[in-house]
Amino acid sequence: MKNEIARLRIEHGNFRKLLDLLEAQLDLFHKGEQPDYSLMTDILHYMTRYPDGFHHPTEDVIFSYLLERDPSVAPSVEELARQHHVIAESGARLHENLQSVIAGTMMPRKMVEAPGLQYVTYYRTHMDTEESDLFLLAERLLRDDDWKKINDKVLSESDPMFGASIEERYCAVYNHIAQADDGSRAS
Ligand SMILES: [Fe+2]
Ligand SMILES: [Fe+2]
Repeated sequence: MKNEIARLRIEHGNFRKLLDLLEAQLDLFHKGEQPDYSLMTDILHYMTRYPDGFHHPTEDVIFSYLLERDPSVAPSVEELARQHHVIAESGARLHENLQSVIAGTMMPRKMVEAPGLQYVTYYRTHMDTEESDLFLLAERLLRDDDWKKINDKVLSESDPMFGASIEERYCAVYNHIAQADDGSRAS
């Protein structure tokens, strides 16, 4: 059952690739180039759907069982749950801003660059904290019957970008990531 944590770590790897791609697009502002707004919108569409809808709620359930095994983790559990809210709210706002830019109703750089970079940095730190703290404790302290209860409780949906099949609207983002992977393997 510890493979649930392994799955969450793999998903973090996928989210890091998406954040790298988002950051690379935001960096284009500095070079005086135009970022690909529709690509960034698709990234945020995914981030506000799969991680906010399934990955983070799964973690919240796992952490609640961890709290029963070790009450001293309460401050970390509370803080990570708070961060899940911040990520969901800031992601939804960024997604809205990107959609408004595409519709031509917003100043692109002001509404997208700073909140985008903040989102990327905050998200990376959040995942690093989980991996170095509560994931390790969950692997160590949760028992098979806890994992069974956790699995009964969490909602699951096939990952629409990195799962068995890729949804049409995520294909462009996925192809960019596959190209970046090929590039890093070749260098
Ligand atoms: Fe999380
Ligand atoms: Fe996570």
